[in-house]
Amino acid sequence: MHGKSALITGITGQDGSYLAEWLLSRGYRVYGLVRRSSTENLERIEHLKEQINLISGDLLDQKSLIAAVETACPDEVYNLAAQSFVPVSWHQPVLTAELTALGVTRMLEAIRTVNDKIRFYQASSSEMFGRVQEVPQTEKTPFYPRSPYGVAKVYGHWITVNYRESYGMFACSGILFNHESPRRGLEFVTRKITNAVARIKLGLQDRLVLGNLEARRDWGYAGDYVKGMWLMLQQETPGDYILATGETHTVREFVKIAFEHVDLDYEKYVVIDPRLFRPAEVDLLLGDPSKARAGLGWQPEVSFEQLVKMMVDADLARWGKKV
Ligand code: NAP
Ligand code: GDD
Repeated sequence: MHGKSALITGITGQDGSYLAEWLLSRGYRVYGLVRRSSTENLERIEHLKEQINLISGDLLDQKSLIAAVETACPDEVYNLAAQSFVPVSWHQPVLTAELTALGVTRMLEAIRTVNDKIRFYQASSSEMFGRVQEVPQTEKTPFYPRSPYGVAKVYGHWITVNYRESYGMFACSGILFNHESPRRGLEFVTRKITNAVARIKLGLQDRLVLGNLEARRDWGYAGDYVKGMWLMLQQETPGDYILATGETHTVREFVKIAFEHVDLDYEKYVVIDPRLFRPAEVDLLLGDPSKARAGLGWQPEVSFEQLVKMMVDADLARWGKKV
């Protein structure tokens, strides 16, 4: 029997790199869509380069997506590519919609054109809950997005559901709460904090400028979450699932634990800049992962404290090598 094959869009991102590792460990042939860039951007998958196949393409370009699906002949497509940074979505709302919303339709159309039996995973987001309508949030909680990014993700979610219902496609929407790792982009708050803590500890930086410290997020570890994505596509019937830890913490708590881990007092280093506050904030996210636990047998393994410390340690090691 041939092993399965999968195509990942967004393979150069945080989740794409962990998902590629997970699928390779399950014996998959892994294909990744990468967009053209004048400088190579493969840092997160450098260690996998010999084991994966990269295909040039862009979520903005329909023809390239059809060609990618034809080349990979995948059993499963994981659509992780997006403009994923919330603040940029206010500055580039049209691009965000093109990529994060319409990009999903383009990928679904590519699958429908080549082979509508291919299973499809859409990377939906807890950002869709925005101004939350209930606590905790479940798969049935109504959406109330608070950013152009969140609005685009709501479109991506519903078009996935619609293609499942309209064409009988095996299409799943994973509603994932924030998940982090040492591979998280430096602009997201967790990595911005752990990177700064490491640099401050090593004497390379003397302050950390942040925005709203009171926002609450349900933070988990990305390595745990990609397994949930895969599990969704291994079920008998397609469905939508929340992946979350069921715990919520403030940005302030994250900061405090990160500084304490290197024996520093955050109050001496953190400076608040009101320009980093968002035009509309998501104040509280708390997910209820019961459906994934019962239906997929999924549960997160890394705790909040372990996650913070893992990220600080990784940044210390990275900067420690350089000084
Ligand atoms: P990420 O690190 O920002 O990665 C985004 C990926 O999308 C990168 O590989 C990027 O490629 C690719 N991409 C951007 N524009 C593209 C285009 N025009 N064509 C093809 N690829 C393009 O994001 P992540 O944290 O791994 O998240 C993965 C997905 O899950 C995203 O859709 C995100 O919105 C969603 N999500 C994330 C979280 C979270 O907490 N991490 C939670 C819920 C949902 P380049 O390297 O070329 O930029
Ligand atoms: N980025 C950032 N930078 N956020 C800050 C800062 C700062 O300096 N200071 C405070 N925050 C607060 C933000 O206001 C927000 O409430 C919280 O920290 C988390 O911000 P991010 O880490 O940028 O993540 P996000 O929650 O907006 O979005 C992430 O999670 C979504 C899932 O809920 C992204 O990964 C999205 O792609 C994902 O869909």
